[in-house]
Amino acid sequence: MPSHTDSLPEQQTQSAAIHSTLGIVGAGAVGCFLGAVLSQDKALAVQFFGREALAIEFAAYGLTASFGGQHLTVNAPAFFTSMVSLIECDVILLTVKATSLPHLIPQLKKFIRPDVPVIALQNGVGISVMLENELPNPIYRAIVPFNVVKTSAGTFSMASGGDLIWPQSEDNRLQYLAAIFARHGLPLSIAADMQAVEYGKLLLNLNNALNAISDLPLKQQLQNRDLRQVLAAAMQEWLHVCQALQIKPGSLTRLPNHWLPTLLRLPTPLFKVLAGQMLRIDPFARSSMWDDIQAGRRTEIMYLNGAVERLGIQTGVATPVNSAIVELIKHLEQGEKLSLSPLALKQQLLGH
Ligand SMILES: NC(=O)c1ccc[n+]([C@@H]2O[C@H](COP(=O)([O-])OP(=O)(O)OC[C@H]3O[C@@H](n4cnc5c(N)ncnc54)[C@H](OP(=O)(O)O)[C@@H]3O)[C@@H](O)[C@H]2O)c1
Repeated sequence: MPSHTDSLPEQQTQSAAIHSTLGIVGAGAVGCFLGAVLSQDKALAVQFFGREALAIEFAAYGLTASFGGQHLTVNAPAFFTSMVSLIECDVILLTVKATSLPHLIPQLKKFIRPDVPVIALQNGVGISVMLENELPNPIYRAIVPFNVVKTSAGTFSMASGGDLIWPQSEDNRLQYLAAIFARHGLPLSIAADMQAVEYGKLLLNLNNALNAISDLPLKQQLQNRDLRQVLAAAMQEWLHVCQALQIKPGSLTRLPNHWLPTLLRLPTPLFKVLAGQMLRIDPFARSSMWDDIQAGRRTEIMYLNGAVERLGIQTGVATPVNSAIVELIKHLEQGEKLSLSPLALKQQLLGH
């Protein structure tokens, strides 16, 4: 599993980045937050690629990353609304949502030089394969276990705990970026097996869709046993698929993964005692998939519960709960209202 990185070979990596240019493709919550941290390094030129509204906001307010009591600011971030300048970049952080990738890939193919490493930070499974099929570049995965939210104009804040999980690599460009994160105090772990981390993150992200379907704040949702039983069943299906694939998903919580379904199924008073940490969340926080539904955007469902369904078919493991969740999200994406009580949802998905 991930190991901590206090002693990166900094001297060795320093030389790699002098006059290097980093492209953040998809200037949104994750891209702006990480880009602001990386911009603190004087030897690295950071360029942001995103929408015009954000360029205007940056011009007025600059960009700030806020975490652990620090505020790292960039006064005039280099911002592009066209992908043409990607040709200048020596390393790319890909931070669009997974749903934007199919549309974006032709432009990446056109403008990113083929030797340039691309580090994809999306949630979900199936990202690397999609990129590797389309791009000649070395593709890496990194995983963001914490939440990032925009807290005011130009300011992106870490809203929960967890280490950025970065791929172990011989490539000194990746090592150099890890050294910058570490130097500026961003909690960071290095992992040799990013597929295990990606699969472990998916286990936790299976709740995103259920939160959107329940239409409740996360804290309230997790205090409802009917909804926890549905989540436990969805997680159990993914763990069975991983077993069939002979992949051991990395654990991103203090508990071993296989205990999570058992913990979730406990009666609520006991769950509250044992899962105190899990419930220490903003009482109004909801999943980003709930936000996507409210905004009428397509969700990342096909890379989350949809990936469980897809790999379940591939391995011959039944995944009826995740399939039903995918279908309900598709209805919500069409603008339909579900109005299912937690008990009705459990009866519909678990059949009891
Ligand atoms: N935010 C979090 O706390 C968090 C935590 C862990 C993991 N993640 C994962 O990280 C990924 C990014 O999430 P996010 O919350 O940072 O998303 P986001 O805020 O929506 O950022 C992505 C940005 O990229 C822009 N974009 C997409 N296609 C573009 C294009 N062709 N040209 C220019 N700009 C383009 C989007 O604009 P439009 O919206 O206009 O398309 C959006 O502003 C997702 O896979 C998410 O699941 C997020």
